[in-house]
Amino acid sequence: MKTAAIIGGGVIGGGWAARFALNGWNVAVFDPDPQAQRKIGEVMENARRSLPGLTDLAMPEEGALSYHATLEEAVERADLIIESVPERLDLKHNTYARIQAACRGDAIIGSSTSGYKPSQLQQDAADPGQIMVMHPFNPVYLLPLIELVPSGANPADRVERARQMLLSVGLHPLQLRAEIDAHIADRFLEAVWREALWMVRDDIATTGEIDNAIRYGFGLRWAQMGLFETYRIAGGEAGMAHFIEQFGPCLQWPWTRLTDVPELTPELIAKIADQSDAQSGGLSIRELERARDDNLVAILRALKARDWGAGALLNAHDRARAPGEGDIARPLRTVARAVPLDWTDYNGHMNEARYLQVFGDATDRFMEIIGCDADYIAGGQSFFTAETHIRHLAEARAGARIHVDTRCLSGGGKKMHLFHQLFAGENLLATGEHMLIHVSLDTRRATAISDALAGKLDRIVRAHARLPHPEGVGAAVGKKGDAGAAR
Ligand SMILES: NC(=O)c1ccc[n+]([C@@H]2O[C@H](COP(=O)([O-])OP(=O)(O)OC[C@H]3O[C@@H](n4cnc5c(N)ncnc54)[C@H](O)[C@@H]3O)[C@@H](O)[C@H]2O)c1
Repeated sequence: MKTAAIIGGGVIGGGWAARFALNGWNVAVFDPDPQAQRKIGEVMENARRSLPGLTDLAMPEEGALSYHATLEEAVERADLIIESVPERLDLKHNTYARIQAACRGDAIIGSSTSGYKPSQLQQDAADPGQIMVMHPFNPVYLLPLIELVPSGANPADRVERARQMLLSVGLHPLQLRAEIDAHIADRFLEAVWREALWMVRDDIATTGEIDNAIRYGFGLRWAQMGLFETYRIAGGEAGMAHFIEQFGPCLQWPWTRLTDVPELTPELIAKIADQSDAQSGGLSIRELERARDDNLVAILRALKARDWGAGALLNAHDRARAPGEGDIARPLRTVARAVPLDWTDYNGHMNEARYLQVFGDATDRFMEIIGCDADYIAGGQSFFTAETHIRHLAEARAGARIHVDTRCLSGGGKKMHLFHQLFAGENLLATGEHMLIHVSLDTRRATAISDALAGKLDRIVRAHARLPHPEGVGAAVGKKGDAGAAR
């Protein structure tokens, strides 16, 4: 088992500690702050609840986390030493001198520095080749990017060993071709940040409006394709070179505060177009557009489930368009929607788990109709599903318009028995039969349906009892018959 030493356990060092420990490395921390142990403990808790769900495999056993009274003790056995002390060059130099006096000769020292070049960090070091930049992004335990920046003083085999260590804990080391102040990503952030400060100062936009300009639009595009692939699509069939020729000159107009732009010579345009071809040329513009759309749907729907950012916008729009409950003498229309792109699987149709999701959504809507809404649930009572039987009768593809009609077969005491029919137009795709138990959320045990719900539920049960008996009620697995009809 490998050991990482974390020197400086603040915002960034704590994130590194969590990334290594959860990936099975032992972690030895040194930080003179008496609060460091508490702070890292809190970061570890956040990491434990979020990181393991990103993998579809079991995580390794968590490594041991130890806190040390001296830097020397923390680094002595480490394979990799991560320096995350405050961003002051003298402090960093001093820290490397102490580390190198105590660490193994084959250990690698990575610095989290946001701004300094490796050659600056290596000045006057006992072994400059041991020190390189490993610039992470907060939270280090979730975001995969590490800017790995060596200088000419780092032997290639050490850089390769560093790269392998970073890969082994799920990071993506992006190795810079040459060192530069503030590496790659922070240069973009600083450009955006500088524009934002001007806009707030000049009352063009508030902080909230600026964040909306990012998170409702280009921020979503950047998240899945970055800058150049996104612009490749914007150039359409005419291509990347055409796109730059068309829009490039406006970079020199005084639109922004950043008007120091490289001249768009034919050589530079050709260089970008060639690199873009190598990066994305394997896919046609239409194929790229479809990949983009699939990605955006997945991201937007994930945000919708979180009711955050652009996802909160989608939810507000849905609420504004939500239909009423309809005529209770008929099966209730509890779902009406299209099959989203991210519900389909390798068979090219709606995945079986999504049938249950549709029926779960239908049950939620039925609960709302009888008064078991968010306020009722916040009051401490709800329904839990005790039993489910789904029959998959036909396929549904992405984009198909589907709806669910719901009957309440019985309801009273502590139970509610629902029968959902999922259709695409007239075509019956599936049925879902569910027994639900009314529960107290305090005791987590069954309790009688409250008077607040019982009246409405009873009216629906009596109205639905007059409807023709639906085919498939009470069917057992593997039996086609209608057990309900035989009752
Ligand atoms: N905050 C970010 O978003 C971010 C992102 C990437 C990289 N970085 C870089 O990470 C480094 C640390 O930044 P941070 O945001 O975690 O700062 P921070 O202030 O949260 O943490 C610094 C920690 O270092 C400790 N410390 C101070 N002197 C020390 C010493 N001599 N030996 C050991 N520990 C010492 C402090 O007690 C503190 O816990 C900086 O180089 C910064 O540029 C920060």
